[in-house]
Amino acid sequence: MEHAKAVKRVSRLLWILVFILAAIGIGMVVRRTLVIAGLIPSFSPGGGPPFDTSFSKHPVITFVHMLPGVLFMILGPLQFMPGIRARHIRLHRWSGRVFLVSAYIIGLSAICMPFIMLPIGGVNEAAGSILFAIFFLVALSKAWWHILRKETALHREWMIRAFAIGLAVATIRPIMVLFFAFSGLTPQVFFGTAFWIGFTIHLIAAEVWVNWTRSRPGRASDQTLY
Ligand code: HEM
Repeated sequence: MEHAKAVKRVSRLLWILVFILAAIGIGMVVRRTLVIAGLIPSFSPGGGPPFDTSFSKHPVITFVHMLPGVLFMILGPLQFMPGIRARHIRLHRWSGRVFLVSAYIIGLSAICMPFIMLPIGGVNEAAGSILFAIFFLVALSKAWWHILRKETALHREWMIRAFAIGLAVATIRPIMVLFFAFSGLTPQVFFGTAFWIGFTIHLIAAEVWVNWTRSRPGRASDQTLY
């Protein structure tokens, strides 16, 4: 009982975090779209030349990657809402299919991007993003596989892992802001490190949550984030 109460409390906090991160993710896409459209200037840290113009030089891959990102940030939280799943299972299934297709496009384009345009953070960032993009695609495929076999508990666990990795792109933003504000380093130096830190924190958090809320004999199911 104590365990159930604690899970509920943490789950409330997690929901707030998820909404904030989803809003940051959508904000990233809006900002990048405005920069590519020439409506706002590219960012120039310290008044130097803009460091992120390669997105404007490669708009196709950038849009292929980030437009499904908006769907990911909107549909992802909806998929985890217990009320929607309980009362509108058809909606959950259809929005789940759209989510899955969007997420595959995001993951595949994330793997292609470093080969088309060297990331701002160079090889360090490329290595992190390719590794986590592969794990993202594996987690999505495992989630899909388990739901096809009607293994709902395992489907939930792999969806949590996949969603956590995708959501990490939003956590990486404040980490970059901290580097900008306090490190005195250039984005080329710290971007890769920010990627590694953000993705790793999310993967650990997902694993802790999955283990903590897993149904066990003698314990009621605590799957409140689903
Ligand atoms: C597995 C998950 C993901 C990986 C590995 C990944 C990887 C990347 C990489 C490597 C870049 C290029 C960065 C650079 O050149 O320095 C990028 C850019 C971008 N990604 Fe992702 N991404 C993922 C998921 C997402 C999601 C879910 C969104 C949704 C909002 C998103 C939004 C963006 C945006 C807006 C950009 C353009 C750069 C900017 O304005 O900051 N990404 N991503």
